[in-house]
Amino acid sequence: MGKYEQTFRESLENPKQFWGRAAESITWYKRWETVLDASNPPFYRWFVGGVLNTCYNALDRHIERGRADQLALIYDSPVTDTIQKFTYSELRARVAKIAGFLKDLGVTKGDTVVIYMPMIPEALMAMLACARIGAVHSVVFGGFAPRELAIRIDDAKPKIVLSASCGIEGKKIIPYKPLLDEAIALATHKPQKCVIYQRPQVRAELIEGRDLDWVSLEQKAQPAECVPVAATDPLYILYTSGTTGKPKGVVRDNGGHAVALSWTMQYIYGIEPGDVYWAASDVGWVVGHSYIVYGPLLVGATTVMYEGKPVGTPDPGAFWRVISQHKVKVLFTAPTAFRAIKREDPTGEYLKKYKLSHFQALFLAGERTDPDTYYWASELLKRPVIDHWWQTETGWAIAGNFCGLELLPIKAGSATKPMPGYDVRILDPSTGKELPRGESGVMVVKEPLPPGTFMTLWQRDDDFKKTYFDPFPGYYFTGDGGYFDEDGYIYVMGRVDDIINVAGHRLSTGEMEEIVAQHPDVAECAVIGVADSLKGEVPLGFVVLKAGVQRAHAEIIAEVKQKVRKEIGAIASLKDVLIVNRLPKTRSGKILRGTMRKIADGQQYTVPSTIDDPATLQEIESALRPAHLK
Ligand code: COA
Ligand code: AMP
Repeated sequence: MGKYEQTFRESLENPKQFWGRAAESITWYKRWETVLDASNPPFYRWFVGGVLNTCYNALDRHIERGRADQLALIYDSPVTDTIQKFTYSELRARVAKIAGFLKDLGVTKGDTVVIYMPMIPEALMAMLACARIGAVHSVVFGGFAPRELAIRIDDAKPKIVLSASCGIEGKKIIPYKPLLDEAIALATHKPQKCVIYQRPQVRAELIEGRDLDWVSLEQKAQPAECVPVAATDPLYILYTSGTTGKPKGVVRDNGGHAVALSWTMQYIYGIEPGDVYWAASDVGWVVGHSYIVYGPLLVGATTVMYEGKPVGTPDPGAFWRVISQHKVKVLFTAPTAFRAIKREDPTGEYLKKYKLSHFQALFLAGERTDPDTYYWASELLKRPVIDHWWQTETGWAIAGNFCGLELLPIKAGSATKPMPGYDVRILDPSTGKELPRGESGVMVVKEPLPPGTFMTLWQRDDDFKKTYFDPFPGYYFTGDGGYFDEDGYIYVMGRVDDIINVAGHRLSTGEMEEIVAQHPDVAECAVIGVADSLKGEVPLGFVVLKAGVQRAHAEIIAEVKQKVRKEIGAIASLKDVLIVNRLPKTRSGKILRGTMRKIADGQQYTVPSTIDDPATLQEIESALRPAHLK
């Protein structure tokens, strides 16, 4: 039996032994009493009785063990032409002072803090500072519009919001403060204070009495010590798109999270203390939480924080430059980033300028790595290109390959094998029965989920159960569809619900529909994700106008597109809006989005037997013709 097989089996047959051993890599103030408390499914709790501090584990203990002068963080920002490096002791000094000013502002253990920041070192420091004093952070992706930020502020009810004067998106400068002000005006909950980090590119106007200057606070603050928290206390809330307009607040614990991420750094990514690891993502997404901030620091590695794009900052050689300049061992990014590089530099000319001597593997996630991208990247890099399957809910990979354990043979299009702790099964969606290898169905994970996965949804235990565990009793419902092949390799083929992944950003078509439906001329609408050669998927809208609307269609279309961008953010740009007379529906009135999607993607489809009027599908086909049909 290979190492993977042995490890995987042990993790399922004896999870307490397996994860108990993994937990030895973490420094505890008090050891756990029970590795797994399964007394209240699906609310499993890991390392009950354990007491630790995540920030201590990410910073202080490495300093105590002689890594004070090793680099902890490299900030590389081609958009501001800056490279800044922080050793572990420098990073701890900044984090402890930030934690100090949070304390001065009255933030204590269990309080929530919203962080709405661009990709600057202070964003990572803010997260660790919260962890240091036991506060619960909720990072909101900087690309979200005020309405989205307001929804999250109302749900998380932060005492304090931490923000910056601007973000920089390629060549665009985006002032954040007006967005923050608008969000607070929209929100019912009002944070007591906002602390603003003034970047040199834009100076934000501070509102007297509410807004405070970050740098002055930090200068005055006393460094704060780490506050011991229970393993089961929340570390953070991260909102993610669900099928409705209300995002779901995924809650992560401290203990299970630290144990699981440390395990993954060593065994999945093959990272040792002192190695340089780069997740080219954003701190606003789960990948940023787990692998820009916590994972690399928990194991004493150096993390790279990159404020730039794969192309255009300044060219498609940007990734190779960063890998070579900072001696990156492992890069983790989304397939869409590689498609962007491939589009601009198909023969890899830019790669020839750089030596990637330390580089060992590329990890991809966020969407399935399509075989074309896989072959292109692996032939170009001549290193393992590893697709691994992920969700915000799980916080780390559900399936993947193992640079630090046993590199299994790679099959293009497959996310390889389930991770230890994840007993993945494929079920028939209508009967709930398990399907044999080779057959496609919904992908579920047998309870309990391993440590590091979500504990609940923020203050919505009922929704946690209803959304994820009630659909298939005894299993966690991933929302993805796929199958195992004959060799037990996993193929994740896409969501079976209303969630789409656009350029690595998770968005809800249901939420977009709610926004489109609010346009005064719209009677009814549907938004579907359609295939896109760069972004993987993009949203496409269909609109039925109210009777009697006489306005020019072009005007309405532009307004609908603008409305979605304004209310969710530029990342949610509708590819187009098609005005149709009616939408295809079942006799019970359910819109046939799946069939519409197949038509738009140029795939074979069968007319559903439940359809109310088959002619509606032909109408959709002609609306899509000629511009949108593949
Ligand atoms: N703040 C403000 N606006 C943002 C933003 C942010 N943090 N991120 C994206 N946007 C804006 C972009 O500027 C763009 O605006 P525009 O329509 O006015 O030009 C819009 O949102 C769409 O952005 P994006 O989807 O990123 O497309 P793009 O064409 O700018 O870039 C890629 C395409 C593939 C290069 C880019 O999406 C990319 O690097 N993706 C990888 C994402 C990733 O790493 N995800 C994490 C998964 S591991
Ligand atoms: P997010 O919560 O933003 O990480 O998005 C999670 C979703 O992205 C999953 O449910 C999948 O639909 C998709 N996804 C992420 N990684 C992969 C992958 N490697 N293969 C296929 N789909 C993926």
